[in-house]
Amino acid sequence: MSAPQILATGRYLPERVVTNEELSKTVDTNDQWVFSRTGIHSRRFCVEESGLDLAAAAARQAMERAGLTASDIGVCLTATFTPDHASPSTACLLQRELGLKEDTICFDLNAACAGFLYGLKTAHALLSDAPRPCALVVGAEVISRVMDQTDRNTCVLFGDGAGAAVFRRDEKSSWHTVFGSRGDRESIRVQGPGPVPSAIHMDGKAVFRFAVEVVEQSIRQLLEAEGLESVNDVDLVVCHQANARIIDFVAKRLGAREGLFFKNMDRYGNTSAASIPIALDELVQSGTLRPGMRVLTVGFGGGLTWAGALLRW
Ligand SMILES: CC(C)(COP(=O)(O)OP(=O)(O)OC[C@H]1O[C@@H](n2cnc3c(N)ncnc32)[C@H](O)[C@@H]1OP(=O)(O)O)[C@@H](O)C(=O)NCCC(=O)NCCS
Repeated sequence: MSAPQILATGRYLPERVVTNEELSKTVDTNDQWVFSRTGIHSRRFCVEESGLDLAAAAARQAMERAGLTASDIGVCLTATFTPDHASPSTACLLQRELGLKEDTICFDLNAACAGFLYGLKTAHALLSDAPRPCALVVGAEVISRVMDQTDRNTCVLFGDGAGAAVFRRDEKSSWHTVFGSRGDRESIRVQGPGPVPSAIHMDGKAVFRFAVEVVEQSIRQLLEAEGLESVNDVDLVVCHQANARIIDFVAKRLGAREGLFFKNMDRYGNTSAASIPIALDELVQSGTLRPGMRVLTVGFGGGLTWAGALLRW
């Protein structure tokens, strides 16, 4: 299958920084406990910003950097499990906000922390029959609004933010992906709107076991599909930024060289569908991720879902 040619990325993080130290004033926790188990020091929480604000800022940045205008976009998807509204979708509101044409294919999808890669795959498939050749895929989350801020098991883990990518179909190169799901209410569940207040319920140990299993498996499958012997044959690995220990565990199992697996959860926590595009954008802007490089990406999370893709930059 042909690959998506990513033209540019963008990101937006809310201004308010919430440190572990600050959280320790409301729940019984401390920086040492949180950092040693997760690699997280701080995260961003929205104050006034909506999910649409985050998504629009990231999307505008990506489109401007790619030199695209609204009339280049044929598909606009938002991956999120924390939309501002059950309906209208964030993608539909983005259509208006960005002035995209009315025949643009716009919808949200929920594949939790694997959502951005599900979005990339879906948008890529839709592009073959879309009215225009470029797609916009945004991962945007306001997780702070579905968290129980008094539950120390979960409130230290997550953050808000958005990342975006614009791409064009590239007929020249091949694209290897893996996708999976395993229906499971017990490991991670987010209470929907209704009489019970929204909250994230998670069996941390079960999620950890699931994550290390599917991340390693996905990476091995992608390497095999690409005909590569070692993970060190790719230039960068960008996993969903849930937890540094998950990433370190998998990197060690695969014998990865130092620094191959990118990490930025120390500053943002787990931003779910936004984490991979935020990471890609940081890597591009710092000059680490350059044209021609081969990047292996893997997402995993609630559903349970997982997804992996090899991207040529
Ligand atoms: C969540 C996670 C960090 C918890 O670490 P853990 O070592 O498994 O810790 P446990 O859940 O066994 O809890 C150990 C103790 O620490 C306590 N604890 C939990 N959160 C705490 C916090 N923020 N600060 C201090 N203590 C905390 C627990 O209450 C428990 O206390 P107890 O022994 O008195 O009952 C870990 O399981 C994990 O990283 N899981 C993966 C989660 C994830 O990435 N989810 C998102 C995937 S998309």
